[in-house]
Amino acid sequence: MEKPGVITRVNGPVVHINGLQAPTRFEYVVVGEAELPGEVLAVDHETAVAQIYEYTGGLRVGDPAGAAGHPLTVRLGPGLLGGIYDGLLRPLDDADEFIGPRGLTRPAVTDHDFEPEALPGTEMGPGDIIGRIARPAGGIDHLVVVPPDLAGTLEHIVEPGRYRSSAVIATIDGNDVTFTSEWALRRARPYRSRNPVREPFRTGQRVLDVLVPIAKGNSATVIGGFGEGKTMLLEQLAKWGDADVIIYVGCGERGNELTDLISELGELADPRTGRSLMERTIILANTSNMPVMAREASIYTAVTIAEYYRDMGYHAVIIADSTSRWAEAQRELASRTGAIPAEEGYPADLPASLAAFYQRAGRVDTLGGRDGIVTIVTSVSPPGGDVTEPVAAHTQRFVQAVWSLDRDLAYARHYPAVSWRNSFSRDRDAIGRWHAANDDPDWVTRNVRLNTLLGEADRLQGIADLVGLTALPTDERLILLTGRNIREAILQQSALSDNDAFCSPAKQAALTEAVLQTHDTATTVAAAGVPASVIEDFDYTALLRAKDITGPDDAAGVEAIAQRLRAALQELAP
Ligand SMILES: Nc1ncnc2c1ncn2[C@@H]1O[C@H](COP(=O)(O)OP(=O)(O)OP(=O)(O)O)[C@@H](O)[C@H]1O
Ligand SMILES: [Mg+2]
Repeated sequence: MEKPGVITRVNGPVVHINGLQAPTRFEYVVVGEAELPGEVLAVDHETAVAQIYEYTGGLRVGDPAGAAGHPLTVRLGPGLLGGIYDGLLRPLDDADEFIGPRGLTRPAVTDHDFEPEALPGTEMGPGDIIGRIARPAGGIDHLVVVPPDLAGTLEHIVEPGRYRSSAVIATIDGNDVTFTSEWALRRARPYRSRNPVREPFRTGQRVLDVLVPIAKGNSATVIGGFGEGKTMLLEQLAKWGDADVIIYVGCGERGNELTDLISELGELADPRTGRSLMERTIILANTSNMPVMAREASIYTAVTIAEYYRDMGYHAVIIADSTSRWAEAQRELASRTGAIPAEEGYPADLPASLAAFYQRAGRVDTLGGRDGIVTIVTSVSPPGGDVTEPVAAHTQRFVQAVWSLDRDLAYARHYPAVSWRNSFSRDRDAIGRWHAANDDPDWVTRNVRLNTLLGEADRLQGIADLVGLTALPTDERLILLTGRNIREAILQQSALSDNDAFCSPAKQAALTEAVLQTHDTATTVAAAGVPASVIEDFDYTALLRAKDITGPDDAAGVEAIAQRLRAALQELAP
């Protein structure tokens, strides 16, 4: 290390180092003979207070330490896809254990088939394409571009062929370029300009796509109490969300869940390539049995990787479960560094660090002029389901959509237990306009009708509970009936169903249309004099089961079922 020092105090993950020459905040340090990695959190006169990312047991006062003169970086390069890493992007080879090696080790050196695309003598700027590694396992090309801080004449570039990660493949203005590059994980990677986001991020989960969608390049959070289905919903997004690259962060959650997810992703066929979906996925694991502190870094590592793929012109989605565990790591640090605690013991800069994270979502013109996207989806698990606690409250300010899970729905095994009352999306209108202009002129009408009917059904249920269903007029009874049909035929979606775990946009539209048209038919039949009780007793099973008995993209199948059902319903009329 550039700057030598010595340990003067060890307090759990917080280590004091003296003797460093001009240490700075977030400078990368290593401590002890084992060279445990960490970052400077604060500088107090002669002392640098550092957070260490591994178990500090065995460290002693007087042990050597050193600072690097630069912030903590991660090494980005081809070969990241399909890997499982810890919060500092160190490979975890044993998926069952999730215990990383001590000290800093780096991704293995592998060979890549490189195809040069630029000619010697060309003037090149940040983000310009030097060449590509065509379809390495993952089914997406890996673009090798000029790093953000480099520009000049391309003096040399290698011939097509197989090269090591560490090989010099080009020289620009006297600087060697390799496949890999380092990036400080707390620093957002630069881009040319931010673009408006409108296009929906399709999740294949009906309740989200139909009621509370988000745009690609925005952020959303799932807020839910213990066992209400946060992890299941996030895993569904990892499997079915329409992104090019998926970065899944298991942050303080159970290791066995992550092991299961990894094997499921491994078995799942990628709709684009037919190969394993794991090949487009990167897993960052900092499960509950791993050192708490690296959780703090894992979130920034994830966004840095996402921006790296964004800069190649891809859509990368980060899925982080759970940011509450991440915030807890900050709280633990705050208590050990003697920082003045703010709300509920969280550090005073909790809102700022949440904002800094969510702000890195976006749709941008990259430095190389490509369209690149980072979408962020997280979960928050407030203690006791209290959404006014600091992490939940602040997160709601910075995300575009809140998918709020409902304890009663989860208890009734209505999955996903996303509340239509307490969830919202600030993107809904923009997405409605996008659908109108691009693929589905009726999306807005259906969305509005569904919301109105669900709201009315909730209100009427309250009245029916008091006065009894039969005291309500027919039209209100039909709304209650349709409310149930919406919940069961559209909103409920089992993650465990082969046909229904994913639902295509066309099938989503067909199911919604089916329920709404059934409501219209029921209204007509009632107007013809058929009593409400007869319409209520009609057998709607075919409608409720349509999602399960048709394939994930079988809109025509749904329409056929709905048509038969409505014809039978119609026959009730004299
Ligand atoms: N979409 C779904 N389809 C089918 N079952 C579901 C679905 N969502 C949740 N469940 C059921 O609920 C259980 C709990 O879900 P999950 O583990 O995702 O909750 P959680 O909110 O992540 O819990 P924790 O607070 O412990 O992290 C699952 O094991 C499963 O049985
Ligand atoms: Mg969970």
